[in-house]
Amino acid sequence: MKYITTPIYYPNAKAHIGTAYTTILCDTLARYERLYGQEVKFLTGTDEHGQKIQESAEKNKVTPQQWVDKMSKDFIDLWKALSISNDDFIRTTEQRHIDTVQKILQKVYDNGDIYLGEYKGKYCVSEETFVTESQLVDGKYMGKEVIEVSEPSYFFRLSKYADKLLKYYEEHDDFIIPKQRKNELIAFINQGLQDLSISRTSFNWGIPINLTEEKNHIVYVWFDALTNYLTGAKYGTDEEYFNHVWNNGDIYHFVGKDILRFHAIIWPAMLMSAGIKLPDHIVAHGWWTVNGEKMSKSLGNVVDPIEEVEKYGVDAFRYFLLRESTLGQDADYSENQMVLRINADLANDLGNLLNRTLGMQKKYFGEVVKESGERTEIENGIYELYNEVLKDVYSKVEEANFSKALESIWKLISRMNKYIDETMPWNLFKENNLDRLRTVMYTLFDMIYKCSYLVSPVLIDSSKKMLNQLGVVDIKTNIYEIGDYMPNTKIGNASPIFPRIEKKEKEFDDELKIQDAINIDDFSKVKISVVEILKVSEVESSDRLLKFIVDTGKEKRQILSGIKHYYKEPKKLVGKKVLAVLNLEPVKLVGNISQGMLLTTEQKKNVRLIEISDEVKVGAKVK
Ligand code: ME8
Ligand code: MG
Repeated sequence: MKYITTPIYYPNAKAHIGTAYTTILCDTLARYERLYGQEVKFLTGTDEHGQKIQESAEKNKVTPQQWVDKMSKDFIDLWKALSISNDDFIRTTEQRHIDTVQKILQKVYDNGDIYLGEYKGKYCVSEETFVTESQLVDGKYMGKEVIEVSEPSYFFRLSKYADKLLKYYEEHDDFIIPKQRKNELIAFINQGLQDLSISRTSFNWGIPINLTEEKNHIVYVWFDALTNYLTGAKYGTDEEYFNHVWNNGDIYHFVGKDILRFHAIIWPAMLMSAGIKLPDHIVAHGWWTVNGEKMSKSLGNVVDPIEEVEKYGVDAFRYFLLRESTLGQDADYSENQMVLRINADLANDLGNLLNRTLGMQKKYFGEVVKESGERTEIENGIYELYNEVLKDVYSKVEEANFSKALESIWKLISRMNKYIDETMPWNLFKENNLDRLRTVMYTLFDMIYKCSYLVSPVLIDSSKKMLNQLGVVDIKTNIYEIGDYMPNTKIGNASPIFPRIEKKEKEFDDELKIQDAINIDDFSKVKISVVEILKVSEVESSDRLLKFIVDTGKEKRQILSGIKHYYKEPKKLVGKKVLAVLNLEPVKLVGNISQGMLLTTEQKKNVRLIEISDEVKVGAKVK
């Protein structure tokens, strides 16, 4: 049994690609585990208590309960839109959860780990966390405002668990995923763990505490929230279920790196105190930036997953998030990168493999796929690769390393594209080598069939479409039971599943580099005006030049121009208005003075004067 959980999100703001990412990671693990035959419980939900929620509700002039009722619905809808296959959704305002929190509190209290005191210090409402002086940077915690708090509070003896935590990390190498993150936790513990305030008294939106006569305490929202994982496993209400899911289960908590400490320090200590087994894996992923910038409301660059899904489709969106991020590291979201991935991996590699195969099948054998002929070394190599990939994908998946799992599948997809180029089915067809052609075509169908299953946890609808196009009707849920592609299957209709995204044509190139640019002052040095041609004559001893007398509006000038070749009847130019540069230094050409230059265009060795329409007056300036 695999028990997979997302953080429960604060429903005080809309979900974005960050929260979508965590949930998609969990969903992908859940779907792969099911595909590889494991039983799964996949839990997500909303974290509905606390000061931040109470303040958001007040701002929106509704009660906290009304606020979370409204906002948690958005999350439920979003997860549907992203094809999230959770089989439970927990809201911390539900009675089943309130009961669990009170049970755990009692356990920890009975174990002597809770005492009354007073909290005096800083608190960050936005992150719902108590902040020590050493965590402040310029008076802020992670860039967020902090407030002064001074109130009676219950404390949890977190300090008591420092050594036990360190020992647990040491003995469970796969507890923190990826492993490198362990060091920062060890460093944090070695700085000295303080006891943790676990109740608030200055507002009331939370689960009431009834441990002593002391009134008005509500549970600190993180103590409340972490317990959701036990509620989902029916702690204290269904022993058999709890044994199955929790005690005998393989537990994966997925979190962003921002909340690793809560999950890898506070949560295990709470469980140790309550005498409950610890989770098996805490998977901490990195941060998504957008076009290289931190995502934030104030920058106005928060990406809405629903909009992205409308643009690219759920499958491509999921594929991008998983393939583009290296587990534990930050990743960047950009339209450019998205289009590259979709075109290269989905449209080209996978889509074309399917399209080419269906196309060749129709052309060479018609709609019914033939049985394979004898396999050769090259096919044996491909089947070996498939078996390796089948194993490798699962081992990467168990480490929540989905980019690596996808890389592995794409090795097989690339191999198959290369297989087509190597075997050249078109030649086999031309040579009438139909035995060999049957083997090649069957191998292609069988591998695409297998790949369709391998990608199905990520490309959910697309994998079904692929199988439909292969003519497969009986879609299996367990990859070990899919067998081989059935020969004599009639294929379905081919149509591109991942259309290439053509980048929208820009109306102009706004980043165009202009060569040898001049500025406006340079330009205005050149005086260009409309002149009228009064007289044209030939120049003795030149077969190139014509001699013009023009009216500039102010005076008459003589201008020579080397355009004799291009005008058979130069006399016809008389009366035309053309453009001339009037402030060129006068030059003498074969004994004749030229007091300017007529402007021409040249195209394919044809030179024309620039004629100006009649409505423009002589002397008009070109600016
Ligand atoms: O912390 N990139 O809830 P929360 C990647 N209620 N992931 C991101 C992200 C980003 N830019 N921004 C947010 C809470 N996340 C608590 C959890 S669990 C017992 C209680 C993801 O609504 C990431 O997974 O602030 C992070 O841990 C989570 O959203 C925080 O969600
Ligand atoms: Mg947060």
